Amino acid sequence: MKKTVSESAQLLICPLDQCQLRLNGNSWQCEHKHQYDIARQGYVNLLPVQHKRSKSPGDTKEMVQARRNFLATGAYQAISEQLNQIIIDHKQTNTILDAGCGEGYYLNRLNQKLTENQRIAHCFGLDIAKFAIQAAAKSDKKSHYLVASNRSVPIADSSLDIIYCAFGFPVFEEFTKKLKPDGKLILVESGEQHLIELRKLIYPNLKPYRQNPYPEAAESGFSWTEESSIQYKVTLDKTALANLLLMTPHIHKASAEKKQQLAELEQLELSVDVNFRVLNKDAQNL
Ligand SMILES: C[S@@+](CC[C@H](N)C(=O)[O-])C[C@H]1O[C@@H](n2cnc3c(N)ncnc32)[C@H](O)[C@@H]1O
Repeated sequence: MKKTVSESAQLLICPLDQCQLRLNGNSWQCEHKHQYDIARQGYVNLLPVQHKRSKSPGDTKEMVQARRNFLATGAYQAISEQLNQIIIDHKQTNTILDAGCGEGYYLNRLNQKLTENQRIAHCFGLDIAKFAIQAAAKSDKKSHYLVASNRSVPIADSSLDIIYCAFGFPVFEEFTKKLKPDGKLILVESGEQHLIELRKLIYPNLKPYRQNPYPEAAESGFSWTEESSIQYKVTLDKTALANLLLMTPHIHKASAEKKQQLAELEQLELSVDVNFRVLNKDAQNL
């Protein structure tokens, strides 16, 4: 069944000429007749070939499935709850974008929370990986899912109240353009102790933790406002551990010997340590 596309999706713009997209039957079309079909699962692909750097950019099908299985264990549910609370505490939540949403875990849960709180919100999720967006759109019929890149967000300028980016690849210059003058950017990032036990098993030397990983945020006109964090322990069984490894870059960096050692573990207790940073558009951008 095709998804009904509500008026909120009128914020979509053509990735080729930035003109507004209008619904025409089962496609989105701009005034220059660039046309984007709505897929069976309800998402739309707004990543033109000329904007792709590889045939299948972003996470692979295998990584997407591993992330879905891992997140289904509830190991990161507390992260989603804290993110939801931060968003609910903001007055303006009319238009929200999950930039690099993966298979939609956080956006799906956020949408449910907003509904419970009787907040009307138009939620968009984008990811450069088609497999991730297919999975997201299949299980969350309330949000609008787009195959697109954070480098060129196909949503009208100055139209978003909140953009959040969880363990992703923020593009500050682009995000500042898309946010309303009083919009917020929320970064959900690994803290210093995040998965430290796993990292110590894989790497002989750990890289020093960067307190401010994004100096370019200020250059794009963002200022840090609030910061909070969450820390807890989770015990992962063999399957969850294998999925966690598959969904992170660690799998590519671990030696064959280390991978073997990890595969032999029956379970592992891990620290979860995540930071939530809220950034404001600076007054100079108003
Ligand atoms: C570590 S995963 C996090 C996914 C999701 N936010 C989560 O935490 O479950 C990073 C995601 O960013 C996507 N990605 C990579 N480059 C991107 C880009 N330029 N624009 C949008 N998404 C991108 C990947 O496909 C992947 O789904």
